[in-house]
Amino acid sequence: MKSGFALTICMLLSLLDVVKGATTANTSVPFTYNETNFLLHGKPFQILAGQMDPQRIPQQYWRDRLQKVRAMGLNSISSYIFWDLLEPTEGNWDFSGMNNVAQYFKIAQEEGLKVLLRPGSYICGEHTWGGFPAWLSEVPGMVVRSNNEPFLNVTKSYITRLANELKPLLVTNGGPIVLVQVENEYGSYGSDKQYTSTLRDMWKEAGFNVPLYTTDGDGISYLEGGMIENVLAETDGGGGNVEGAFVTRQNYLANTTSSGPFIDAEYYTTWLDLWGSPHQTMDANGAKTVMGDMDWLIKNGSSFSLYMVHGGTNFGFSAGADWSTVLTPVTSRQVIYYPLDREMTIFSDQFQFQL
Ligand SMILES: *[C@@H]1O[C@H](CO)[C@@H](O)[C@H](O)[C@H]1NC(C)=O
Ligand SMILES: *[C@@H]1O[C@H](CO)[C@@H](O)[C@H](O)[C@H]1NC(C)=O
Ligand SMILES: *[C@@H]1O[C@H](CO)[C@@H](O)[C@H](O)[C@H]1NC(C)=O
Ligand SMILES: *[C@@H]1O[C@H](CO)[C@@H](O)[C@H](O)[C@H]1NC(C)=O
Ligand SMILES: *[C@@H]1O[C@H](CO)[C@@H](O)[C@H](O)[C@H]1NC(C)=O
Repeated sequence: MKSGFALTICMLLSLLDVVKGATTANTSVPFTYNETNFLLHGKPFQILAGQMDPQRIPQQYWRDRLQKVRAMGLNSISSYIFWDLLEPTEGNWDFSGMNNVAQYFKIAQEEGLKVLLRPGSYICGEHTWGGFPAWLSEVPGMVVRSNNEPFLNVTKSYITRLANELKPLLVTNGGPIVLVQVENEYGSYGSDKQYTSTLRDMWKEAGFNVPLYTTDGDGISYLEGGMIENVLAETDGGGGNVEGAFVTRQNYLANTTSSGPFIDAEYYTTWLDLWGSPHQTMDANGAKTVMGDMDWLIKNGSSFSLYMVHGGTNFGFSAGADWSTVLTPVTSRQVIYYPLDREMTIFSDQFQFQL
């Protein structure tokens, strides 16, 4: 998650079965896309998603929260995976309780939701060190988020372990996972294509045979750094002018191997609460802006993910922090303004969701 130039959280915190330009839909490909549409079993599929991370919600509440997402009229969730909680010490994996991410996605499927998986390995996500396990800092020669052998090695072992858990849940194996994101807003941090394309290949080699995508800030410089050849490039933000975000992205990606249907991959329903800063809320004007943007995206046939649809809790000391001139940690409560927790109902022409 990040905002414009003034506040770039990720920067400061420290497939392809694509049938491009297909004229006839191949209904035996479970999920793909052409220039304008995602295609689920050959039929157009508009992704109406909300971000909700399993490791921020006690597992006893998973089904309840997922049912509420579906009841809002959304058809998908996007979810980060926190690597540090899965591998707290090198080689010792824990997929129990809130870390049983496969179980969370199984429940999502039972509740009628598709999944946009955002596993990193760097995820930012207002999570401490963007999801990297603390022990990485003790590995000699480690340079994270770069084409560095020690880093690529540990990332590869993470990807391989995650594949064991999640491969059966890919849409190609009858599961709910339709898209997998590579890195996170890398264009806010760097532009090392050797690193990002190596990551892309790792996900593919591990068997993640669904379309891959990237998410970057709304702006050409971010796209430039973050996009990867043969990976669908998406942007986030754009609140108040989602059409502008659409057009900027489309013009920049035209005739590249990263073009395709637009997802506003993090549509901010409000901003984060940081310790010591005013509590973030949404007033009536803000709600009007959200309504207008949703109406535009829906009518346009574009896709989106509300960030967040339900924030949950940054348990223990797992919250991340912004840093520009001073360190400003995120509060325990992740994204204070959660649509699911409020009473106000916003009606859009085609669907309804609660703010
Ligand atoms: C993309 O898919 C949509 C929905 O099936 C279809 O209407 C459109 O013509 C396709 N575009 C191309 C370029 O094939
Ligand atoms: C449709 O996709 C399947 C799986 O990728 C492939 O085996 C088959 O040849 C494709 N059919 C056509 C007509 O392209
Ligand atoms: C990385 O992994 C490869 C293959 O397992 C191994 O040969 C190499 O020594 C490792 N490099 C580092 C720096 O850990
Ligand atoms: C993309 O390619 C098409 C066909 O060659 C061309 O007409 C169009 O101008 C190109 N667009 C851009 C932005 O380069
Ligand atoms: C979506 O909006 C873009 C930008 O205005 C426009 O070019 C495109 O035709 C629209 N698509 C649909 C299906 O309305």
